[in-house]
Amino acid sequence: MTPPPPAATMDKPKNKAASSTSKRKAGSTVEAKRAKTKKTPKGKTPRAATEDRHILYQNAVQAVDTEIDFVDDTFKELRGRRASIIREDFCGTANTSCEFIRRRPTNRAIGVDLDKPTLDWGLEHNAGKLKPAARKRLTLLQENVLTVNTEPVDCVLAMNFSYFIFTERAVMRQYFESVRASLAPGGIFFLDCFGGYDAFRELTEPRDIEEGNYTYIWDQHSYDPITGKATCKIHFKFPDGSKMKDAFIYHWRLWTLPEIREILTEAGFKRVTVYWEGTEEDTGEGDGNFEPADEGTADPGWICYITAEP
Ligand SMILES: C[S@@+](CC[C@H](N)C(=O)[O-])C[C@H]1O[C@@H](n2cnc3c(N)ncnc32)[C@H](O)[C@@H]1O
Repeated sequence: MTPPPPAATMDKPKNKAASSTSKRKAGSTVEAKRAKTKKTPKGKTPRAATEDRHILYQNAVQAVDTEIDFVDDTFKELRGRRASIIREDFCGTANTSCEFIRRRPTNRAIGVDLDKPTLDWGLEHNAGKLKPAARKRLTLLQENVLTVNTEPVDCVLAMNFSYFIFTERAVMRQYFESVRASLAPGGIFFLDCFGGYDAFRELTEPRDIEEGNYTYIWDQHSYDPITGKATCKIHFKFPDGSKMKDAFIYHWRLWTLPEIREILTEAGFKRVTVYWEGTEEDTGEGDGNFEPADEGTADPGWICYITAEP
């Protein structure tokens, strides 16, 4: 199965939380020079005070269309049929679940997240956009993914590296075991992962977001090589000079791919496949094509998908 062909018009995975392009070539600098921003005129409300961080996040970080393309097509490729029910773990605003529901009138989705205000926001702004009949096919649970009990599903999704929140190996294994137990016969676990030698650096990476005219800043704020723990932050900056600092903060462990593959196998998954992104000849950056791979490339920054099958 080849993910949708990259074309200038076709958005490569716009982004994931963790880098401006899905793959960065060696030597590319990340600290781009920013144009001098103007000061907020007296009496004018700074944009940072009025913007909605979830809208800014969804717009700058998520590419739910290409993500569901990948999940839907890969499931079909591996199972010869379409998935009909998914569980989106760490769903946040359930944007990905709503995208899956829109794909077919029989599709159902279960979103699981601990944070009620975020779920409520998703209910109003994302589920709220679904037609009433489609809305009935979405279930949102304010629960812990470690202990949630749901009906058997075709796919469990853990995207935007949210599972990095589990910093202990035993807890990560417990999570993977609970996911495996939640899958219906023929079910598949989909995760993403990021890495590359730049992932372990403390750096900030600004990226201009045309749609909405603001700057998304990915801040690898701290990294401890002894524990592998990292604090990553998302900030937003506006042309009026105002800044929404610490809009999102993540206390993660930077797991490596070999570790994740090993723990998935220890948790009982029989087949673990890494989908590595191809490289555009001319730019050396990611081409949006994710193919099964046994070998990766030592890029400064990369993102990949993983499938785990019981
Ligand atoms: C990075 S956000 C992910 C949002 C969304 N999945 C995405 O792809 O952009 C991480 C989410 O995980 C939730 N979360 C963290 N630990 C959790 C747990 N143990 N069980 C359920 N949700 C959890 C947080 O509330 C937060 O909304």
